[in-house]
Amino acid sequence: MDDDTTDEVFAELKARPLGGWGVAQIAAGTGLAVYAMWVGILQPGFRRVPLRLQVPYIPASKAQVDNVMTLLRCRKGGIVDLGSGDGRIVLEASRQGFIPAVGYELNPWLVRLARFHAWRAGQHGKVSYRREDLWKVDLTECKNVTVFLAPSVLSLLQEKLQAELPDDALVVAGRFPFPNWEPFRTEGQGVDRAWAYSMQAQRQHMSKINVKHTVMNLDLDKELTKEKGYT
Ligand SMILES: C[S@@+](CC[C@H](N)C(=O)[O-])C[C@H]1O[C@@H](n2cnc3c(N)ncnc32)[C@H](O)[C@@H]1O
Repeated sequence: MDDDTTDEVFAELKARPLGGWGVAQIAAGTGLAVYAMWVGILQPGFRRVPLRLQVPYIPASKAQVDNVMTLLRCRKGGIVDLGSGDGRIVLEASRQGFIPAVGYELNPWLVRLARFHAWRAGQHGKVSYRREDLWKVDLTECKNVTVFLAPSVLSLLQEKLQAELPDDALVVAGRFPFPNWEPFRTEGQGVDRAWAYSMQAQRQHMSKINVKHTVMNLDLDKELTKEKGYT
């Protein structure tokens, strides 16, 4: 097609009014492109993960990483980041002496990127990034766990951590706190805030809540029985 013909085609397209069908086609095309980018680049590997458990990649800021590390001061041993993204938390933890430092991430591009960052930082032998679903990882041996996930998955994750982690484990959550747990320390403000939870204290806290609920239910039963004149 020569330049004159191209100009003519563009002129004709410009002159043509964009009807409802045209707008619908553009909207569908844009939607498809966004979806293809989401599936192909941002969320590959997530096909088997239910939609409500999918968490997008939003990397922790420098301040967030620093706050997490402050809360982990005085801890040692291994560390696990659930949903490790480009590996920045695992890498920093490894620099600060946590061994082994492991990140679990489903997105293969991010796993590759994390390994590249570790190699560039001279830490590649010390960290490990595994392409695994965090919901299927066995956490029974983990002493230090970090999570930067979305509020929609935190109550389910809370149950998994409570069922699997040892009593002396410490969990640090960034950006959003766990819905029913009591942190023993927090660090930072606003979006940079991080919350530290002791597993043992959490179990005690949850069992107190359960006892309270049981007593409340028993009281309610008694009241109902009285109300209905059954006593
Ligand atoms: C909000 S980003 C946090 C990334 C990193 N921890 C950081 O702070 O920079 C959450 C990450 O969790 C990953 N993720 C979400 N669901 C996952 C799953 N079921 N298994 C493994 N990784 C998952 C996402 O791909 C994403 O990279």
